[in-house]
Amino acid sequence: MQLNGRTALVTGGADGLGWAMVQRFSRAGARVVIADLREDAAAERAAEIRDGGGSATAVGVDVTDELAVTRMFDIAASAEGVPQILVNNAGVTRDAVLRKMSLDDFRLVIDVHLQGAWLCTRAAVSAMRGAGLEGAIVNMSSISGKVGNPGQSNYSAAKAGMVGLTKSVAKEVARYGVRVNAIAPGLIRTIMTERMDQDALARGIADVPLGRIGEPEDVAEVALFLASESSSYLTGCVLEVSGGRNM
Ligand SMILES: NC(=O)c1ccc[n+]([C@@H]2O[C@H](COP(=O)([O-])OP(=O)(O)OC[C@H]3O[C@@H](n4cnc5c(N)ncnc54)[C@H](O)[C@@H]3O)[C@@H](O)[C@H]2O)c1
Repeated sequence: MQLNGRTALVTGGADGLGWAMVQRFSRAGARVVIADLREDAAAERAAEIRDGGGSATAVGVDVTDELAVTRMFDIAASAEGVPQILVNNAGVTRDAVLRKMSLDDFRLVIDVHLQGAWLCTRAAVSAMRGAGLEGAIVNMSSISGKVGNPGQSNYSAAKAGMVGLTKSVAKEVARYGVRVNAIAPGLIRTIMTERMDQDALARGIADVPLGRIGEPEDVAEVALFLASESSSYLTGCVLEVSGGRNM
């Protein structure tokens, strides 16, 4: 079991890729903290993990809220132990072309992805250092942050920002034994892609060298690798989980 004895906190863990990572980490032996804006959904997921014999705690949190993030780490530490693994996964989209995008929708997307990841990273590193623990942080970026997508000026900027955040913090905290890496998923089968225009989705899949859409489990396996000691000599990396699209 690659994560035995470790606690993993996944933001946005109640759904989609976050939930796939929570399940994979739990199967790998981790105690898990499912942190999500939707507290009821997180509680249901935590119960499901416990029913399967794992250890899980749900926390309702808005990752943009500094006090709520501090509270989340306090709850996590007392319920499951200080998290040695953090996945900054919580996300939203508010797509629109520049002419139609409101400042509120620009700010919301930047705040949830980038400010949220920064707040959680700061709190996680502080908790790890306070407990004398090494750790691993995984940031969810996106291929959209690498190549840019029309109608996603907020999202692409946030996801590109997460690469800078990853590299800066990786250099800063390596001396404490904390590794920081990012995943840039491409087209993955989630509610987000189900809601896409299906012709556009089919065109996107036709552009994937591996010839298929990605599954949440494809991302979860890479997150497990980055969270575990299997990636002990990796920090500041961005792993593209895109089937080779936009390589
Ligand atoms: N699905 C894809 O194809 C894809 C591709 C590239 C990157 N990503 C990134 O992966 C991550 C997960 O994507 P997903 O498709 O699973 O999304 P999702 O919408 O299925 O899940 C996101 C979760 O984040 C939670 N959340 C939203 N705002 C929050 C906040 N302020 N505080 C706490 N939790 C909050 C939601 O409640 C939800 O449970 C996101 O960061 C997304 O940008 C997804």
